[in-house]
Amino acid sequence: MKTILVTGGAGFIGSHTVVALQEKGYKAIIADDFSNSNLDSIDRIEKITGIRPAFIKADLSDKRQCDNVFDTFTDIDGVINFAAFKAVGESCEKPIEYYNNNMGILLNVLSNMKRREIKYIVHSSSCTVYGEPDSLPIKESTSTKFAESPYGNTKQMAEDILHFTTKATCIKAIALRYFNPIGAHPSSIIGELPNGVPNNLMPFITQTAIGIRKELTVFGDDYPTRDGTCIRDYIHVVDLAEAHVVSMDRFFANKNKSELEFFNIGTGNGFTVLEVIKSFEKTTGVKLNYKIGERRAGDIIQIWADTQLAENELGWKAKLSLDDMTLSAWNWEKALEKKI
Ligand code: WQD
Repeated sequence: MKTILVTGGAGFIGSHTVVALQEKGYKAIIADDFSNSNLDSIDRIEKITGIRPAFIKADLSDKRQCDNVFDTFTDIDGVINFAAFKAVGESCEKPIEYYNNNMGILLNVLSNMKRREIKYIVHSSSCTVYGEPDSLPIKESTSTKFAESPYGNTKQMAEDILHFTTKATCIKAIALRYFNPIGAHPSSIIGELPNGVPNNLMPFITQTAIGIRKELTVFGDDYPTRDGTCIRDYIHVVDLAEAHVVSMDRFFANKNKSELEFFNIGTGNGFTVLEVIKSFEKTTGVKLNYKIGERRAGDIIQIWADTQLAENELGWKAKLSLDDMTLSAWNWEKALEKKI
């Protein structure tokens, strides 16, 4: 049984990936500082799979704490690195904290992988590295642009660090460039739990529908798109989690073709904000209270993925639809209300 250290494994995507790893026969260890997640994720994962993941509370941007994780768990065969601050707007207000945290974590993890001779890392990257695309759909070969935010820049810097580190060491890496992860596990036991007022669309929709928020503001309907609202490639978090497992499988089957590979992880379809709202209302039967407001600074107009490379190389393709995403997000919000 291979053992995978999942940094940030108590978080939204991390917890779904731990479930998928356990269901695929991997042993998962969670290292998390619980700054954007909570301890009860461990209980919730165990409730789904019957397997309680080992975990350690640690701020991995602190070298001593990160070293301690790799000294405590000496059977790690691979790492999946989620741990990072991820709010675009917040990163513009606190760039130094974002660079310190996100780059510090990656560098500490990589130096411990080198020290412990751990060869494989799947790293959480983002479509944010592309910026506003000149042509669509986006391929992995599409050149990246100057970042629109410190958050996006930390994702670009991480890929540069992996580029040179994998050339100079035994470490092999796969960077998964996520598009927009939404939805929740079908059990409604784990899901997205943003701290405070949600930045992202889906949790704001479900919190409005359940009455936590008064109304959703659609940030602009005067964009050059089919209905005037921005287009994104939304991907179900369960499909995204699976992409991490098949990436780890690729390493252990020695199928990786170079020391650093990139894959777009999206559905290949773009949906507008209004289409997401329409899907939500259709799948849940709940009429959403929303208004059209001003554009949000920093928003790109439209982006969606070409996912052919992930299909060809990873044998992975998103299976779940937008309706599956919106309904699962709503079921999770309702379960939260019942405090399962
Ligand atoms: C989606 C669309 C908004 C909220 C960011 C990061 C990305 C990833 C996901 C971390 C946009 C519109 C939103 C609202 C709205 N980060 N919207 N009203 O900005 O595409 O991506 O989050 O994992 O790297 O860049 O996601 O959900 O914030 O916005 O109209 O209250 O919904 O304008 O068009 P985004 P988002």
